[in-house]
Amino acid sequence: MPNIVVVGTQWGDEGKGKVVDVITPHVNVVVRYQGGNNAGHTVVVGREKYVLHSIPSGILHPHCRCVIGCGVVVDPASLIQEMEALVQRGVTLDGSLFISKNAHLIMPYHPALDRASEAKLGSRRIGTTGKGVGPAYVDKAARVGIRMADLLDERLFREKLEINLAQKNRILREIYDAQSFNIEEILNPYLRFAGWLAPYITDTALLLHRWIESGYSVLFEGAQATMLDIDHGTYPYITSSSTTAGGASTGTGVPPTKIHGVLGVAKAYSTRVGAGPFPTEMTGELAETIRARGNEYGATTGRPRRCGWFDAVVLRYAVRINGLDTVALTKLDVLDKCETVRVCTGYRYRGDLITEFPEEQLALAALEPVYEDIEGWMSPTTGAKNEADLPAKARRYLERLEELIGVSFCLVSTGPQRAETILCEDSPLLRWYPTVRSSIV
Ligand code: IMP
Repeated sequence: MPNIVVVGTQWGDEGKGKVVDVITPHVNVVVRYQGGNNAGHTVVVGREKYVLHSIPSGILHPHCRCVIGCGVVVDPASLIQEMEALVQRGVTLDGSLFISKNAHLIMPYHPALDRASEAKLGSRRIGTTGKGVGPAYVDKAARVGIRMADLLDERLFREKLEINLAQKNRILREIYDAQSFNIEEILNPYLRFAGWLAPYITDTALLLHRWIESGYSVLFEGAQATMLDIDHGTYPYITSSSTTAGGASTGTGVPPTKIHGVLGVAKAYSTRVGAGPFPTEMTGELAETIRARGNEYGATTGRPRRCGWFDAVVLRYAVRINGLDTVALTKLDVLDKCETVRVCTGYRYRGDLITEFPEEQLALAALEPVYEDIEGWMSPTTGAKNEADLPAKARRYLERLEELIGVSFCLVSTGPQRAETILCEDSPLLRWYPTVRSSIV
């Protein structure tokens, strides 16, 4: 049974949720491997709307086991809120949800440090979600982080909390002029959280190993995206985890030799939330129009997303860094009314033409996109059941994108509903999940 990684190829919000939702009926396990509750994922089932931040949406499928891997940072208050909302709506968590003992906790001082640091950076701020994700990963790398397993040992938890608070309180007060915390205001709620979470905390690397040995199929659900990766993204305007496919291994304990393929998700245009370089960014009325048509507002913070044209250089980079076997293209319908659709094929930097994404921060800020203009199709794509049903000019757009990125599409999404999905012939997706067609009727 194949174990496949689904990864964002741009700056996040590519519509990974819909792609994962189409695949989930055909796998046994969905695992998150990085990030935290900075991710936001809205799932509509019938008339019910669920907003998930830390729990994989596979939880809405009764057959599916969901794992929060060791690479994730978990805010227990936010996680429990999500769990309670699910339980109230009749979703069973026992036997379905498993949380890694080694996942690090987001503590109340992490969002406080996140916000204080952003305020201090002023115009150089990252534009974080303010959830404390960055500071939690700082503690993990500094080897002072508190992990899920620590929560289950009251004495150890108190000891680690005391050590951390002594340091964090000084930083908050003396560097940021912000409020400090007293130990009891954290200890008491966190011990209550421990009682709630204890039945779900386990050695998930071992569980995953056993499940894979017994023939289960695992889907690794990436959060955020390639250009926000801590090593490969547009540093420092990134999130603090390994969002790319390699993170699936370190963030779960499943070795690379047990992973069989990588599927990238890309939007038919680009968006970015927060600050940082965005070479194909649109301005003015055009940006407003695409934002409105694509409903481009952050699921976690509600912030308007910056909008831009499809950047084939970014996609080629994502193909290379993640080893993408195929790409799912989403939101094609948002471009249905554009007279001209632009695709960035390279950049000009100091007079030179660049066709590979540069890693230097200074170069990133000064890139000028080189565009190819493609005639718009000016007719609806929604409702097309296969590629042949699409307007000829929309097909030409898709073919040109495939040529430019060097990988073919496995799926084209033309609306939020499952039925608004085209499965492309002869794709790795159909090889990995031969029954996937049954998901889109
Ligand atoms: P942080 O992850 O909250 O530290 O934010 C760092 C950067 O990643 C900011 O630009 C955020 O807007 C961005 N970011 C974090 N999570 C997401 C997401 O789920 N979608 C899109 N952007 C995100």
